[in-house]
Amino acid sequence: MNILLTGGSGYIGSHAAVALAQAGHKVVLYDNLSNSQLDVVSRVGRILGYPLVLIEGDVRAPDLLGQALREHSIDAVVHFAGLKAVGESVAQPLTYYDNNVTGTQCLLRAMHRCGVRTLVFSSSATVYGEPRYLPLDERHPTSAVNPYGRSKLHIEEMLSDLALSDASWRIACLRYFNPVGAHESGLIGEDPNGIPNNLMPYIAQVATGRRDRVSVFGGDYETPDGTGVRDYIHVTDLAHGHLAALNFLASASGVGWHAFNLGTGKGHSVLEVIQAFERASGMKVPYEIVARRAGDVASSYASSDKARHMLGWQAKLGLDEMCASAWRWQRYCAQL
Ligand code: NAD
Ligand code: UFG
Repeated sequence: MNILLTGGSGYIGSHAAVALAQAGHKVVLYDNLSNSQLDVVSRVGRILGYPLVLIEGDVRAPDLLGQALREHSIDAVVHFAGLKAVGESVAQPLTYYDNNVTGTQCLLRAMHRCGVRTLVFSSSATVYGEPRYLPLDERHPTSAVNPYGRSKLHIEEMLSDLALSDASWRIACLRYFNPVGAHESGLIGEDPNGIPNNLMPYIAQVATGRRDRVSVFGGDYETPDGTGVRDYIHVTDLAHGHLAALNFLASASGVGWHAFNLGTGKGHSVLEVIQAFERASGMKVPYEIVARRAGDVASSYASSDKARHMLGWQAKLGLDEMCASAWRWQRYCAQL
């Protein structure tokens, strides 16, 4: 298949590009480089042994998008492009609705015009809001607790309406839990600008000495050790989930709109992640327990049964591999 990856030079997109290209697909990247660097594309090329095409453009630019879809005879789109910082979305909701929701509308119009009807969308476990039960399965009620989450929910609903209106669409919304880790080569990974919002990149920077200590947000949750529990998933497993979703959409069952959780089904606490990182890196990761972070839930983890049954996909890599790969990547970043 010829596959266009919007946001393809970002953290998850670059790993998916490797997995899809290694499975024999022709992959074209489309990214406005607002949160990624051109250099990532050359490192993806080093992993693959051949260069991928990057079209530098915004998903809100319909003409360029249409040209990309036609010139590369695209069969399917994987839509990673979007803004993802929860706090920033609270401060700048219109920016988030414009980039994420309007951006997706523009993409769908361009796909419609060019006759491309297969889409995999990067959704998030955030669409479940405050968990009413665990593990979270795809039937759990959806709700949004911030503009970022609302943008994901709006997009999922828009995609569902579209699939209902026209039976030729094949759409999979992949609800990622907590993607972490890096490619085994150590050449690509997550490299946030400024102070990391998320736990794993923060721990990695403490281990290298770039930051003093991890602030553990809350030690009094109703969890085994009092710290927040999440379903961390290795980005390489996540990347393979996209391959499985594209194969499913291409099958007879793929018609219509579908949602799948991509998680491991296991929860790990903040302290467990810190300890695993210490084991993987051989470095000390000092931490202090501070107040809870607003908006955080105690525990969130997936039921991944639906993806296992329908996509034939399940996560293979555990927390130790996630930490080891994040550490390898962090050391590579230190030399850049
Ligand atoms: P990322 O920021 O590393 O990658 C997103 C890429 O999209 C970047 O390269 C950026 O330059 C590009 N982009 C943003 N807006 C664009 C636009 N308007 N036009 C073209 N390109 C644009 O983020 P990521 O972690 O790789 O996330 C990818 C997707 O997965 C996002 O939609 C995100 O919301 C979703 N997601 C991420 C996580 C996570 O924890 N990383 C969790 C759940 C869902
Ligand atoms: N945490 C700390 N210290 C930090 C950072 C995080 O203790 O410096 C804790 C959090 O309180 C939480 C856990 O580590 O218990 C994981 O936090 P992350 O920020 O790494 O991840 P979240 O689960 O909060 O959020 C992620 C994505 C969001 C998405 C959400 C639900 O970053 O975009 O999952 O899918 F909305």
